[in-house]
Amino acid sequence: MKILHIVGARPNFMKMAPIIAALKQRDGVRQVLVHTGQHYDAKMSDVFFQDLGMPDPDVHLGVGSGSHAQQTAKIMLEIEPVLLGEKPDVVVVAGDVNSTIGVALVAAKLGLRIAHVEAGLRSRDWTMPEEINRVLTDRLSDLLFTPSRDGDENLVREGIEKGRIHFVGNVMIDSLRAALPRARQSRIHERLELSKGGYALATLHRPANVDDPAALERLLSALSEVGQEIPVVFPIHPRTRSRLPEGFNARGVKLVEPLGYLDFLALTADARLVMTDSGGIQEETTALGVPCLTLRENTERPITVEVGTNQLVGTDPARVIPAAREVLAGRGKKGRIPELWDGHAAERVAEVLVR
Ligand code: UD1
Repeated sequence: MKILHIVGARPNFMKMAPIIAALKQRDGVRQVLVHTGQHYDAKMSDVFFQDLGMPDPDVHLGVGSGSHAQQTAKIMLEIEPVLLGEKPDVVVVAGDVNSTIGVALVAAKLGLRIAHVEAGLRSRDWTMPEEINRVLTDRLSDLLFTPSRDGDENLVREGIEKGRIHFVGNVMIDSLRAALPRARQSRIHERLELSKGGYALATLHRPANVDDPAALERLLSALSEVGQEIPVVFPIHPRTRSRLPEGFNARGVKLVEPLGYLDFLALTADARLVMTDSGGIQEETTALGVPCLTLRENTERPITVEVGTNQLVGTDPARVIPAAREVLAGRGKKGRIPELWDGHAAERVAEVLVR
């Protein structure tokens, strides 16, 4: 059996690594790993392969950045001959990035079987490119692996046959659990002169939050306000870096380069508070029991709010700052671990794939 995995952007790596490892334990499975090259900087890609112990890609498409149309089209053009040559029994795609939909669209038209990892999530916000990618990829997929039961419900409501939906839990949390002991040895706190439990961690990269200068400025002002009370570490995504006001320098906000998986996990695990517009970080904070304020009006991961430590606070500083103060005063949300976020999701994926 030949299984071809697609990765392309930062949040794909921690989802695919445990699946590749689980399938390695199975007899009769040949795996091919394709990197589209959507993310290409060492700090956005290579470091994750090292930190997650992932094999090097067998094929690299070298797609790079561009508008949505350019990037998706390039992915499609480059993957088609690879799929025709490899003739995999199944193509595994993960998450909701342009690499996910670009490859799924080509694979579907070649009549190949597609498995979507992290299926069924819905923000119901069609202004997000990821929502378009999620809905369309699910529609094209033969096997849909969901991280939470809301995913199953969304898919059934959209008319997807129940037999194709497999509630397996959260593969990203497999990576988190496996890496936590190594992350605990990271020296990142010393390097950034932070005391454990004595800082907040912030990330921002959603187009809706960073592409509009006024929206970005409002969020930066909220971060610097929180920075008056506790140091705010802010690893900066390249999209956001390129849009920062010239000479941005807010007291209490420590701008740092994008971090590797282990260093970022170490910082998350010991943060007093996390403020983010990321999808994956909402899940990681829930898994670690760290209070998270999500700087968005909606989430495709409602389980992190219903069960976990996540709160949706939007982007208005008048809401963000008081919510942060509540957490800093020790009144952060307590949560539980969602069902099947147990570190064994990838084994369940492997079982279904092989079956
Ligand atoms: C992509 C995903 C998003 C995900 C995010 C995680 C889509 C539609 N979006 O957004 O869902 O949350 O990745 O990081 O797929 N750049 C670099 N170096 C890199 C990669 C990008 O400098 O290695 C810069 C380029 O200027 C590029 C910009 O970042 O134009 C945006 O990159 P892109 O892949 O288009 O989208 P992300 O914002 O990273």
